[in-house]
Amino acid sequence: MLLMDKLAVVTGGSSGIGFAAAERFTSEGARVVISGRNAEKLEHAAQKLGANALPVIADASSAADMHRLYETAVGHFQCNVDVVVANAGISRQTPVRDTPLEQFSEVLAINVGGVYATVREALPFLARPASIVLVASLAASQGTKHFSAYCASKAAVVSLAKSFAAEFVDLDIRVNSISPGVANTPIFDSLGMSEAQLLEWARVIPMKRPADPVEIATAILFLASEASRYMTGADLAVDGGMSGISPF
Ligand SMILES: NC(=O)c1ccc[n+]([C@@H]2O[C@H](COP(=O)([O-])OP(=O)(O)OC[C@H]3O[C@@H](n4cnc5c(N)ncnc54)[C@H](OP(=O)(O)O)[C@@H]3O)[C@@H](O)[C@H]2O)c1
Repeated sequence: MLLMDKLAVVTGGSSGIGFAAAERFTSEGARVVISGRNAEKLEHAAQKLGANALPVIADASSAADMHRLYETAVGHFQCNVDVVVANAGISRQTPVRDTPLEQFSEVLAINVGGVYATVREALPFLARPASIVLVASLAASQGTKHFSAYCASKAAVVSLAKSFAAEFVDLDIRVNSISPGVANTPIFDSLGMSEAQLLEWARVIPMKRPADPVEIATAILFLASEASRYMTGADLAVDGGMSGISPF
């Protein structure tokens, strides 16, 4: 069991990659606190995870919400937090000509400000050693038409992981990021994309298919656990070969 009796917090744990990570963690012996903004979705996810999961409604981009989440987690389970997965994020199409600054800022506020608040507010509640995993994206390193806000936000997440790692290395707190390529999750519904369109995108992936969220979750589990104890400040690509293999 890779996370026996550990306490993990997974933001955005009610859906997709976050839910799959929470499921992998509980199957490895962890207690998990999952968060999200939609109460119904969150409760449903917690029920599926069972008795070792605690749902806490919290907006990751609110420092007050995140502070309350950690207080609740530590009070409920009576121990410090061993693992934090800053996973909550949104994706929006933001063609430059049609996107006012306010919409650009909304993506940055959740995807970057949310990661910052998730990590900063965790600090007083962390066990030693602790592991923090930031969910970035392949989009961090590939410019994508109509996704400048999302791509910029994920580049910032990769960068934050490295600076956090530098700042916390002497505190026995490791920080790494993970960069999934395309994973089959509800995030594409929010973009108005059908499953057929997702499969069309998948044709350019060397492995010719999107990831199952559990395949991303398993890599998050590796970074969260002592199995990766000599890693900090790294970005792990889990993308079916997209970033490493030339299309030619
Ligand atoms: N799917 C992919 O292909 C892919 C690829 C690369 C990276 N990623 C990244 O992986 C992460 C998870 O994405 P996913 O595909 O699993 O998406 P998803 O299925 O849409 O799940 C997103 C989760 O984040 C939560 N969330 C969104 N905004 C939040 C906020 N402000 N505060 C708290 N929770 C919030 C959502 O719950 P509520 O809406 O109820 O708040 C939901 O639980 C994201 O950071 C995404 O950018 C995904």
